Amino acid sequence: APAVIVAIDGPSGTGKSSTSKAVAAHLGLSYLDTGAQYRAITWWMANNNIDITDPTAIAAVVGKPEIVSGTDPSAPTITVDGVDVSGPIRSQEVTSKVSAVSAVPEVRARITELQRSLAASAEAGIVVEGRDIGTTVLPDADLKVFLTASPEARAARRSGELKGADIHTTREALIKRDAADSNRTTSPLAKSDDAVEVDTTDLTLQQVIECVITLVEEKR
Ligand code: C5P
Repeated sequence: APAVIVAIDGPSGTGKSSTSKAVAAHLGLSYLDTGAQYRAITWWMANNNIDITDPTAIAAVVGKPEIVSGTDPSAPTITVDGVDVSGPIRSQEVTSKVSAVSAVPEVRARITELQRSLAASAEAGIVVEGRDIGTTVLPDADLKVFLTASPEARAARRSGELKGADIHTTREALIKRDAADSNRTTSPLAKSDDAVEVDTTDLTLQQVIECVITLVEEKR
């Protein structure tokens, strides 16, 4: 069978990562978390004291860190200059800075290139999750899915993940990050015209996974 390329986009807290990993594992495909790549470059910028309010300063060093993504859905890893940063990239600091860093066109150009080369080398195919995969990174994907959910449902899921986090604070931070991602000039968070929209508000994770698997199988 030819390689199948699946693009899964949507805002935070819609179950993108859990769904994408499970679908890839079930279908024997590779998996790429593009948010982790933007988090990794943001982690490197923070660690090297780059002023993230200065796009020129960011653009000047964008090629320095070596970012390597593992594409096994059962054990996704990400390294920066050989260091596993899977844990540190989930910190509050990185989460609060990532939208500013990922809005810089030179950052997007560099990360997009990594994403296209990983997709092209995935033998059976790949599930790629992010914000601009269907619109910009892989416009010829075989299937494009856009996941949505109410802000309340998304904040509740995120607070569950960040054990003990206050739901109102989580909700505000999440809405702010989505607004920044949706309003940037270069490849904002957006639904591609040919994407299938799935509202996950009243669905269990298992239902979303089954829905996407069915959509992939229809395309094969
Ligand atoms: O998916 P996750 O919450 O880990 O993504 C972190 C951030 O990375 C997003 O808020 C967004 O700023 C950026 N991102 C992006 N384009 C993608 C994936 C993530 O700009 N394709």
